[in-house]
Amino acid sequence: MSGALLEARGLALAFGGVRAADGVDLEVAPGEILAIIGPNGAGKTTFLNMVTGYLRPQAGSIRFAGREIAGLPPRRIVRLGIARSFQIPQLFAEHRVIENVALHLAARDGFWAPFRPLLSPARRSEALAILDDLELAPLAEARADTLDEGARKLVDIAMALALRPRLLLMDEPTSGVAASEKHAIMDRLVAALRRASVTAVFVEHDMEVVARHADRVAVWSQGRIRAEGPPEAVLADPLVRREVIGVEGAPC
Ligand SMILES: Nc1ncnc2c1ncn2[C@@H]1O[C@H](COP(=O)(O)OP(=O)(O)OP(=O)(O)O)[C@@H](O)[C@H]1O
Ligand SMILES: [Mg+2]
Repeated sequence: MSGALLEARGLALAFGGVRAADGVDLEVAPGEILAIIGPNGAGKTTFLNMVTGYLRPQAGSIRFAGREIAGLPPRRIVRLGIARSFQIPQLFAEHRVIENVALHLAARDGFWAPFRPLLSPARRSEALAILDDLELAPLAEARADTLDEGARKLVDIAMALALRPRLLLMDEPTSGVAASEKHAIMDRLVAALRRASVTAVFVEHDMEVVARHADRVAVWSQGRIRAEGPPEAVLADPLVRREVIGVEGAPC
């Protein structure tokens, strides 16, 4: 038996003639932070959707902590310890940041009776601790629709962490964020993940972000993994640079 937390084998899924997954094999070790890169339409989001139960693979297996999860509904997969954040943050726009996080705490607890306060003292302090861990505590009382994109991304991740996952999947956590802010956002995010020993997989188009924050990188193209390994090796591979990243020559 492998010691992987997540183990995908032979995943396949076609949409009509498009092979969004065409024999994907991938292992993610406990505590690892893995980046997925690859061109538009390569099948990166499809992989996240299969792992989180939004799409059912037509073939293959997905084992999480030794248990088969392919085809389970999303809420069962969340309960087993896998959470996700989205390319476009899924916030409750008219609610305050702390309420957004508290809603996920309530969801995790499995009940939310309208006659019980959403923000009980215990839940408020737990939500604040999660926000504080991402350096978001000063925004706790702000309405979600007043936040800039970087803060929206981090609040979306705080909501995912409120589910207390063992594995967090993130689809482009820095997309839409100003280039000057990307590293600061990732520094806060990765530090919080490491403190909580959360294993993570993130899809990313910015190679500097990948080089600085990923332990390992997997390169997707046409529904397959073309290369994987440490970022410095994979990002310097001429084939990966030419055919996947779309740049010629050696890295600068
Ligand atoms: N629900 C769907 N129905 C039909 N086709 C789909 C569906 N989801 C994805 N596809 C197709 O599958 C392929 C892979 O899509 P996917 O969204 O996984 O790519 P991606 O690597 O995440 O791309 P991007 O970098 O643009 O986000 C694409 O050709 C896409 O059009
Ligand atoms: Mg995508």
